[in-house]
Amino acid sequence: MQTPPPQTPAAALWRMREYMRPYYLTLALMITAAIVAVTAETMIPLITKSVIDGAIAHGSRRELLPLGLAATALGALQAGLNFYRRWSLAGAVNGMEKTIRGDLYHHLQQLDPGFHDSWQSGQLLSRATNDLSTIRRFAGFGTVFFITSTWTFLLIVALLIDMNWWLGLLTGCLFAPVGVLCLRFEKKYRVLSRQYQDQTGDLATYVEEAAAGIRVLKSLGRRDEAAARHLGLSRLVYRSQVGKARLRGTFWAGLDLAPNAAIGLLLLLGALAVSWHQLTLGGLVAFVTLTLLLIWPIEAMGFIIATGQEAATAAQRIYEIFDTAPAITDPDVPEDPQPSITAARARKAAGKKTQASTGSIAGRPATAPPASPAAATARTGHLRFDAVTFSYPQAPEPVLRGITLDLAPGETVALVGATGSGKSTLLQLVPRLADAASGLITLDGADIRDLPLPELRARVGCAFEDPTLFSASVRENVSFGVRDATEADVLAALQAAQAEFVADLPWGLDTRIGEQGMALSGGQRQRVALARAILARPEVLLLDDPLSALDVHTEAKVTAALADVMADSTALVVAHRPSTVLLADRVALLADGVIAAIGTHHELLATQARYRALMSADDLGGSDDDGRNAPGLAGART
Ligand SMILES: Nc1ncnc2c1ncn2[C@@H]1O[C@H](COP(=O)(O)OP(=O)(O)OP(=O)(O)O)[C@@H](O)[C@H]1O
Ligand SMILES: [Mg+2]
Repeated sequence: MQTPPPQTPAAALWRMREYMRPYYLTLALMITAAIVAVTAETMIPLITKSVIDGAIAHGSRRELLPLGLAATALGALQAGLNFYRRWSLAGAVNGMEKTIRGDLYHHLQQLDPGFHDSWQSGQLLSRATNDLSTIRRFAGFGTVFFITSTWTFLLIVALLIDMNWWLGLLTGCLFAPVGVLCLRFEKKYRVLSRQYQDQTGDLATYVEEAAAGIRVLKSLGRRDEAAARHLGLSRLVYRSQVGKARLRGTFWAGLDLAPNAAIGLLLLLGALAVSWHQLTLGGLVAFVTLTLLLIWPIEAMGFIIATGQEAATAAQRIYEIFDTAPAITDPDVPEDPQPSITAARARKAAGKKTQASTGSIAGRPATAPPASPAAATARTGHLRFDAVTFSYPQAPEPVLRGITLDLAPGETVALVGATGSGKSTLLQLVPRLADAASGLITLDGADIRDLPLPELRARVGCAFEDPTLFSASVRENVSFGVRDATEADVLAALQAAQAEFVADLPWGLDTRIGEQGMALSGGQRQRVALARAILARPEVLLLDDPLSALDVHTEAKVTAALADVMADSTALVVAHRPSTVLLADRVALLADGVIAAIGTHHELLATQARYRALMSADDLGGSDDDGRNAPGLAGART
């Protein structure tokens, strides 16, 4: 993962224009409509002038009707154009927001787990929601108002100069200090708006953690402390919000003051100009009305600068994610993937044969097509670690210092080690959730970094320590990695994972689980996650302590079924219990970042004091039946 170089908020906002590109035409039409609308509005005081200086001064009623009709037409034109602008704006800016959101999600999915470990989830959430809305608001109103306000200002000052040059120039100059005010405001507001957006992210992270950890908070009686911490964070957000609002208020008051003070002076000087015959009476009315029309564009500048500043910091925060390049990528030129994909397919077909033999749930047969003779003899899944080292970015010491381990196709190796010794770390290197710092991991002789990621991850199946389930049905959760899985496949996988409880759920396979769904026990969740890992029939199966939450009786049944499933796959199984260890052909002891010993359970018991210490909690060490009579080992290879 590469940290992006810093960039200014303004530069980040300017880069956002790439998302506006598909809407350039709409934007151009919208801006044209807005310019024509404000021009029409500006013409109305000129009609007033003609009414006063022409129709009224000459007593000519005939001129009144066309002038009245012209004013009405201009008003109607302005209303119609404003309607069009608002109507087309919605599609353009929401479309832009949708595209950025899609890209952001896609990018977040591409970033490696190390990125997600180092970022607070609330910070990501606030960027994907609040910051996107801020950019949308500015892209819509900000850009259009900026252009139309500038146009209105220039047009009106030009008209004023045309009516009376010195009075017009003076009016333009009276508004000059507004520019200085804008610059000073922009600087202060930029700091406050970044601070506010970061604090909102921290608050979102805290609320999310407090909701997820509600049981811990309640059971430890820490609700008051948690509430106090939440209050502290929301106080910071409140202060930044109030600070922003007060700064805006002061700035807008300054913006209000400039044109209103100018109006008084202009009225006075305008009256003098009339008395000197440099301006007609109608001209004075038009002059004052036009000057009043300047108030809104000037005030709009305040809004534009505020939203622009917020949008710029939002864009900066979003590009901090976009500019973080994923560390784990596909090889530039994939090695000819054809042979391995074919092998994977053959393997899958061979696997289905065994899967069909694992039985059914609730009396429903698990059927599968017969495997071809070629598939039955396919033997892939040779996994080899060669002097593999790895260290986490934040940690000074490497976790793995030179792992060398060879798993023959179809072999099951149990990985045993003290807590924190690096077992989960080693497993995550195989599907390339992280890359080794040095050394080589090969699958059937090919460096895993040379395999396209989708292929590698299709060939390697994992059940992690934490059985994550998604807000979806049991069926969707189990068949997550296999799009074309049939009901029979899903049932067979659940059967192998001893997840018969699914049949008793209110809607069976269609029962929604995960967040906002049926709550499952820890052991039930583990078995659904295990079913998901074995359904894919991967060539290499990585199981990170998959049975830790099960009672001994259920564990024995799952162990027996797993032995059957794993006959097809090369398996690396993290195990703490002797009963799981006995499932394996060999046991590898991980200690001090290396494979300290490898052999059968009994060889290690006899020769490795550390292994004996790890296994001493269970009584199997004293058994002299080489484990074959251990629970659930019926059918396992010995
Ligand atoms: N994301 C991470 N960032 C930094 N250090 C980490 C990270 N994950 C794990 N570690 C550290 O790496 C070491 C190995 O962790 P790992 O999770 O691989 O241990 P383990 O053998 O699976 O332990 P357990 O049996 O408790 O599951 C530990 O010291 C841990 O603190
Ligand atoms: Mg672990």
